[in-house]
Amino acid sequence: MLLHRMKLRGGKPLHGTVRSSGAKNAALPLLAACLMQQGHYELDNVPNLTDVMTMIRMLNSLGIRAEYHENNKVKIWNKGRVKHIAPYELVTAMRASFFVAGPILAMTGYAKVPLPGGCAIGSRPLDLHFQGFKKLGATITIEHGFVEMKAKKLVGDRIYLDFPSVGATENIMMAAALAEGETLIENAAQEPEIVDLGEFLISGGAKIEGLGSSTIRIMGVKTLMGQNYSVIPDRIEVGTLMIAGAITKGDVTVEGVVPDHIEPLIRKMKEAGVHLTIQENSIRVIGPDRIQAVDIETLPFPGFPTDMQAQMMSLLTFAEGTSIVKETIFENRFMHAHELMRMGAKIKLDRNHAILTGVTELSGAEVKITDLRAGAALVLAGLAAKGETEVYGLEHLWRGYDRITQKLQLLGAEIIE
Ligand code: UD1
Repeated sequence: MLLHRMKLRGGKPLHGTVRSSGAKNAALPLLAACLMQQGHYELDNVPNLTDVMTMIRMLNSLGIRAEYHENNKVKIWNKGRVKHIAPYELVTAMRASFFVAGPILAMTGYAKVPLPGGCAIGSRPLDLHFQGFKKLGATITIEHGFVEMKAKKLVGDRIYLDFPSVGATENIMMAAALAEGETLIENAAQEPEIVDLGEFLISGGAKIEGLGSSTIRIMGVKTLMGQNYSVIPDRIEVGTLMIAGAITKGDVTVEGVVPDHIEPLIRKMKEAGVHLTIQENSIRVIGPDRIQAVDIETLPFPGFPTDMQAQMMSLLTFAEGTSIVKETIFENRFMHAHELMRMGAKIKLDRNHAILTGVTELSGAEVKITDLRAGAALVLAGLAAKGETEVYGLEHLWRGYDRITQKLQLLGAEIIE
């Protein structure tokens, strides 16, 4: 059963080896792409997360069969008959549900998807997704909270994204994979999850070049036939576990790591004085006696990921000196700061800047999670704080961390209840 609160006793260095799960942000678009990939096949290394279960329910409601198996596999049966309308309660439960828009449009020429609405970390508009679909020939109407997308056929075009949005790049890439002719996505996002989605589509017969660069070229094909495929490791979970080692002055080895995917984090952790031993598929983290202050600015990949900003801030609350953290991707992503301050952190917020003056100690407190990564940050702070910390709102954590309690306990964390 997934609990809503966690009580932990901090101050104990974590030790041992832990394995990463598959990436949430790769698994979600890959599952959406199963709407386009026909046949019977399996996705492997799919993390057991509430967001993944929401997407699986979405696929079943759209007319294909998707089954989650406890060994992290999802079995898919797609006979090519996809429904047009995405259910309101699933799209509003998770913004990433909007990934189904591109595939439904490409498969059927008509998609009706509820607007996902805002979320805690910012307003998160979808204009770049719509601009891309329009360029491919779709008409878009927004009425009564639904987006309706229609196209007799999709035809490839040149699409320049004003910002390298991860979701827009993925949605447009999926739609373009079945469009007629060639599509160029310029100023495309370069995140490893985009590469993974592209490789999955290629394994099913799509023609895509330039993955991982800022220009992606897609030559449309008529049908895609799904093949078995394994999801990449979750670089954000890896980073979170690395910080768990560093913040508790422990010695933690994380297995199932692609070092290139976490290069920006490696650089900043080294700069902060954390000892790292990097191998082909694993990384060992030894926390120093005192972390050094570093400045962070979140940026699209290969810059420092916004999804690691909160966890890094927990680490920097203990730094010697002053660190400045600048958030450039989402406008409201410092909610963890207020809770960290209740634990004794010294943080000043000034619009999209957080100025942290390091302290030597945090004290355990009751804290509330407001979003997924803020949740991870507070658990990390609790692991390093003196005394007991009670974290409320864990449902946010289960959206993105597969069996995190067990993983931390395996490393010796004292999670009391
Ligand atoms: C994805 C990730 C999320 C991560 C984020 C940035 C998934 C499921 N989620 O979210 O964990 O934090 O990338 O790395 O993969 N924007 C627009 N118009 C649009 C789309 C986006 O203005 O049409 C803006 C957003 O408001 C935000 C910025 O672009 O300020 C980045 O958003 P985007 O890269 O699209 O993030 P997501 O795909 O939503």
